[in-house]
Amino acid sequence: MPKDTLTITDNRTGKTYEVPIENGCIRTHALRQIKTGDDDFGLMGYDPAFLNTANCKSAITFIDGDKGILEYRGYPIEQLAEKSSFLEVAYLLLNGELPQQKDLDQFTHLVTHHTLVHENIKSFMDGFRYDAHPMSMLASTVAALSAFYPDAKHTRDERSRRIQITRLIAKMPTIAAFSYRHTMGLPYIYPDNDLSYVANFLTMIKRIGTTTYKVHPVLEKALDVLFILHADHEQNCSTTSVRTVGSSEVDPYSAVSAGVGALYGPLHGGANEAVLRMLREIGHISKIPDFIKQVKGGEGEKKLMGFGHRVYKSYDPRAKVIKRVADEVFEVTGKNPLLEIALELERIALEDEYFVKRKLYPNVDFYSGLIYEAMGFQAEMFPVLFAIPRTVGWCAQWEEMVKDSEQKIARPRQVYTGSGRRDYIAMDKRPSPQK
Ligand code: SDX
Repeated sequence: MPKDTLTITDNRTGKTYEVPIENGCIRTHALRQIKTGDDDFGLMGYDPAFLNTANCKSAITFIDGDKGILEYRGYPIEQLAEKSSFLEVAYLLLNGELPQQKDLDQFTHLVTHHTLVHENIKSFMDGFRYDAHPMSMLASTVAALSAFYPDAKHTRDERSRRIQITRLIAKMPTIAAFSYRHTMGLPYIYPDNDLSYVANFLTMIKRIGTTTYKVHPVLEKALDVLFILHADHEQNCSTTSVRTVGSSEVDPYSAVSAGVGALYGPLHGGANEAVLRMLREIGHISKIPDFIKQVKGGEGEKKLMGFGHRVYKSYDPRAKVIKRVADEVFEVTGKNPLLEIALELERIALEDEYFVKRKLYPNVDFYSGLIYEAMGFQAEMFPVLFAIPRTVGWCAQWEEMVKDSEQKIARPRQVYTGSGRRDYIAMDKRPSPQK
């Protein structure tokens, strides 16, 4: 019967070591016993950007990149997008099971009644220039919440954790809407507890003056589905940032603000904004071949934004659902003229050896921006629309990390490549720098 172990022979010493294989992994720490002598620190694993390193065990989200599978707590994303709602998915991600109606009602009531922010948040946000990027405003304001809720530092207390998580989920749309209104020079609209999570957000964005704003049900449903699709995605860059910062036992507002910062990057959640700029830069389907040539011919400085993924080496299942949602939204808003370029770009890329060989397919960001623009959002708001739902995933992953007895403060090692030990040189004895 084959054993679940790895036998390693160190050819420097001839010694062999037997290392257990658990969950398809070896504990990298087991390599430390492999030494050439007593003063040897022992072997480490070296894995820049964690291409092949699991930093945690998690029961929240499962992805199969080759098969294009995404499941939240075992439920396929396609079924949740079709049958569930964002707040029900939020409950599922946080608690591990779909709620009974009374539990969902209670959760919805709690979130609805925590949407207000302290009045001082408004003056804090008013300090930004008119042209501040809303993601910068979001990251700073979420971090500032840490100062408004000092009890949040009791991260070992489940009741405290849950109230902070509720506040984060509830207040993210309010802060996002305030960021939008600030950049548009419009007065802030306060949350309306009589509205659904998405309708309340759209109203805080769109309402002008005292007129009531009627949210179109198709757009409300579309944004709710988009929020479901963006809620969690296992150990992506921003979630890893939240887990890493949270591992120092800082409060969840400080940890989640780190996630907002990571998501802002154009290689991550900022890609939906970059896709729109790319489509605009292309301008017409006749210009696509030339653009593709620049992407293929360059040194990687020009990418096909919205394409490719560290895990998905097939079509991102979320992109498939988003394409269906786009059709429904465009029925109401009119088709986004950039859609024609996007569809043709996808068609050409999926036939091009460069992209096929590298298994580059449309990801979640390729079509989402087209929908957001059709709904009237400017491109700077697109990553903010990603951050709102991803707050649920960040919180669920943060709490799982806090409760995981195997986790401790994250502190990786390094491979030192700098100068050897040397003595201080007086100013007048220093050699002039090499030209
Ligand atoms: C998200 O991790 C997650 O789960 C993230 C996310 C989530 O829900 O949290 O799914 C959300 O961030 C989606 C990704 C959004 N980003 C983009 O659309 C930006 C464009 N995509 C790329 O920058 C890239 O595909 C990444 C960053 C998404 C993934 O990059 P990897 O896994 O580090 O792969 P790589 O950069 O090493 O690329 C491998 C090869 C390289 O070519 P060679 O060196 O082999 O010649 O593929 C090329 C890359 O140059 N390549 C691309 C490309 N993506 C990779 N070439 C052109 N266009 C692209 N988009």
